[in-house]
Amino acid sequence: MKIIGTGSALPKKVVTNDDLAQFLDTSDEWILPRTGIRSRHVITDERLEDLGKDAALLALKDAGLTPGDIDLFICSNVVNEYLTPSLSCVISAAIGMHCPAIDINCACPGFIYAMDIAENYFLAGKVSNVLIVCAEEPTRMTSWTDRSTCVLFGDGAGAAVFTKGDNVKAIKLNSQPSVIHLYETRPLLPTPFITRHETEQPLHMDGREVFKFAVSTSLRDIEEILRKTGTSVDEIDFFMIHQANLRIIEGIRRGLGAPESKFPSNIYDHGNSSSASCPILLDECNRKGLFKRGDKLVFSAFGAGLLSAVAFLEW
Ligand code: COA
Repeated sequence: MKIIGTGSALPKKVVTNDDLAQFLDTSDEWILPRTGIRSRHVITDERLEDLGKDAALLALKDAGLTPGDIDLFICSNVVNEYLTPSLSCVISAAIGMHCPAIDINCACPGFIYAMDIAENYFLAGKVSNVLIVCAEEPTRMTSWTDRSTCVLFGDGAGAAVFTKGDNVKAIKLNSQPSVIHLYETRPLLPTPFITRHETEQPLHMDGREVFKFAVSTSLRDIEEILRKTGTSVDEIDFFMIHQANLRIIEGIRRGLGAPESKFPSNIYDHGNSSSASCPILLDECNRKGLFKRGDKLVFSAFGAGLLSAVAFLEW
């Protein structure tokens, strides 16, 4: 498959580190050097499905397609208002799309997991065009009294349209299953029969463990797919790394020995938007005209699960 269109949508409200310092024991001096984040877009009155819809329509327009041209819609999402139907169905209803619709919850690497599913549908000859939307509102998952997590996240949606092609060179998915390092729980509705205790736990993260996992798996898997495809680091034009923390991106960059110019980043004014981060970055780079046909792009993302994934494709 190959990418023929991208889109993204962000909430209008921008919250700076100084804004956070108004109600949290934190500061721009703490957050910026440790994360690379100065501000983030935060959902106020928007609905996540509307951001997903806007990103989808922009990607379809960029691809020159209509909703009726799409054969499969994959939506990557961790949390939204609807437990059912799936967010892909909610967005499909909003844009008048009638193809099979699947949601996946693979946390931050969701865009790459969705690409892997799509690529297999193409290889099976079952589809001509696939739409992927990653829509996330992680600011609704954290406790806003927990300064170690809430300062890291921002909301948004990113989308990409894929058609037949031979541009995907390799995808590697990875899991190192562990619940305790990064999780959130919420009680379900009570019943007359339930006897076990359920707790509401806002997003809990062992920052250092996740940091180490991110850098080590990303480096290992990027090096593996480059080795398997006989490609050198120098031949890659852009490394599209999940925008979780600038120091994670820096750790990966230094490990690969590649120049900063090959690592586009928007974390400064976006924060971590979970699986939406890679397609939002992709769309922003595309709209700036950063890519030319044939450019070699490596994606890498990591997060709850613990899951991670890398993909190597040509623009
Ligand atoms: N403002 C001010 N102080 C803060 C703070 C904040 N926003 N968040 C934490 N601190 C404090 C802690 O309370 C701690 O204080 P103490 O030493 O008095 O206990 C101190 O800063 C150090 O905390 P620690 O958690 O050890 O900091 P760190 O250097 O590991 O950085 C992260 C924290 C979260 C920035 C870092 O671990 C990280 O980025 N991890 C990866 C997280 C990530 O990207 N996850 C998503 C992947 S999908």
